[in-house]
Amino acid sequence: MEYVGPDARDRETLLEAAGALLRQGGLVAFPTETVYGLGGDALSPDAAKKIYEAKGRPSDNPLIVHISRLEDLPLLVEEGERGSRAMAVAAPLIERFWPGPLTLVFPKSGRVPSATTGGLDTVAVRLPGLALAREFISRAGGYVAAPSANRSGRPSPTRAAHVWEDMQGRIDMVLDGGHACDLGLESAVVDMSGATPLLLRAGSLDRRELERTLGRVLALDTGLEQGKPRAPGMKYRHYAPRGRMRLVCGRALAVAAYIQAEADRLRGEGQRVAILAPTEDLAAYQADILLDMGPVSDSGEAGRRLYAHLRSCDQAGADWIFAAWLWQEDMQGALGDRFRRASGGDLVYV
Ligand code: TXA
Ligand code: MG
Repeated sequence: MEYVGPDARDRETLLEAAGALLRQGGLVAFPTETVYGLGGDALSPDAAKKIYEAKGRPSDNPLIVHISRLEDLPLLVEEGERGSRAMAVAAPLIERFWPGPLTLVFPKSGRVPSATTGGLDTVAVRLPGLALAREFISRAGGYVAAPSANRSGRPSPTRAAHVWEDMQGRIDMVLDGGHACDLGLESAVVDMSGATPLLLRAGSLDRRELERTLGRVLALDTGLEQGKPRAPGMKYRHYAPRGRMRLVCGRALAVAAYIQAEADRLRGEGQRVAILAPTEDLAAYQADILLDMGPVSDSGEAGRRLYAHLRSCDQAGADWIFAAWLWQEDMQGALGDRFRRASGGDLVYV
């Protein structure tokens, strides 16, 4: 495997080499504005198999197909009534949010192998916002299947070094974006294949803006609320650190008092405790590992830092992780969703 650092001289040569590797059936990890993706040829069943193996992911979990231009969408979508209707309803979303952190699910065409879609008759498509990602996809043949580039069950990678940690020796190349991903949380997934659009996964897009653009209210089906999620990936334990994690919600003083008391008690029993808190509250805490989520006024910064911090907790051997939830954010939004998944639903209101 080749590790290509941010100081690589020749961007063109590099992108060409990455594209060629992928066209020849190889696996290349690449940055997007959300998280790093683990790319393979989306039109090749063999490449899909290799992706599942490298990730250690069950093969019934469908992959997102990444494209670099809107013109490449129709080849993936079923011809005829069902496909055209889905495309027509999706048109305003595409117009407003592509390129960007929005994945749309359509009835699939015969060109998309069922190995790529985990046996489903639908296909998830994304046109990423990061120019480097689009340049890579276009050189790779235009259709790149990519899940997040973490080993299954680990937090998604937001830096090339995270990909390296998880995938070293398992894939052919990591294309390094040179800095942490701009958003740090995965795309929103909206299913356009049924009678009404469904939000399958919250992402770094304002839900109300999605609904305004679509002209209707989005039903939410992220699998956290219902028993059987529509996005198969949501049924697996995701975004998870190795230690036990608890999310603590409430007013700042009460949250700090609860967390510190628990941390003291557990440390007294010899457990290693990590605390994730906003910048302004860090001084209130004592723990084995103290991690700064950024100012409480900036939930975007918290999103950018979350996965890297969960990895640090693992590295430091944290047995327990407490996270202070103080953002003025909807718990159903991307940040709340990922925090709740990481904690396995362990929430305390104080
Ligand atoms: O931001 C992102 O979306 C990143 C970057 C790399 O693009 N990708 C990503 O992929 O998060 P992954 O595989 O980790 O998550 C894809 C989610 C899974 O929950 C999967 O089940 C769902 O999308 N999905 C994919 N295809 C689907 C389909 N045809 N129908 C329903 N859900 C689908
Ligand atoms: Mg993932």
